[in-house]
Amino acid sequence: MLSETTYGELQEIAARYPEPRSGLLPMLHLVQSVEGRITPEGIEACAELLNITAAEVSGVATFYTMYKRRPVGDYHVGVCTNTLCAVMGGDAIFERLKDHLGVGNDETTEDGKITLEHVECNAACDYAPVMMVNWEFMDNMTPETAMQIIDDLRAGKEVRSTRGPRIVTWREAERVLAGFPDDLADEGPAAGPASLVGLGIAREKGWTAPAGAQGENGHAVPEEPRQVEQAAAEASPPQSDNATVEKESGTSETAAEKGDAQ
Ligand code: FES
Repeated sequence: MLSETTYGELQEIAARYPEPRSGLLPMLHLVQSVEGRITPEGIEACAELLNITAAEVSGVATFYTMYKRRPVGDYHVGVCTNTLCAVMGGDAIFERLKDHLGVGNDETTEDGKITLEHVECNAACDYAPVMMVNWEFMDNMTPETAMQIIDDLRAGKEVRSTRGPRIVTWREAERVLAGFPDDLADEGPAAGPASLVGLGIAREKGWTAPAGAQGENGHAVPEEPRQVEQAAAEASPPQSDNATVEKESGTSETAAEKGDAQ
């Protein structure tokens, strides 16, 4: 049963938004932080507080993969098996962890410590193969390093993300996602060398982002396509002065010829 404290915090989340129903996603994270999953009672509580139907809440909770209908262990371990990570070793890591833990996909170990799941791209492909523990990055994994992390977590040892803070429990992490910070956000590195390569090249070449125009409300407005094309051309000079372009007729002419004709 949800406590009065939890009801109060659910209301607190809804009150953060001009439209209270905008708070549904963090509210569901709070439910997971206290219940270990999305329970029918949690769905009813959100629906009642937001004055929407349980079916609407349930529709959201079943759409997003971060919401779990089955209890999650102390540590949710997500192995990326999307294309790049898979070929870089993600499939091998996932298979090794399944054997090591004696569980299948989306299953929890008997001691309730680890829930294993294969996940889609984490937008961290420059560190493939990537594993997530309670949504914190573990970069450049191998089957051996992944198993070591799992063993350390089960043994209660401190484990740190390769690009983030020390790992807390899944319920604690869910509370942060509900908008109740644990003040660990600034712990550990925020970006790794692979993510900063582009920045280094830009600095070396003296490239800066276009200033962009400001709209009436002070917000940046999108550049015209012509400006974007021009910026792209300046950043990436043509590989050949005689680059061939297709004419509508299906015949071809060189860029130089095209320029002469204009
Ligand atoms: S494919 Fe794994 S992070 Fe992108």
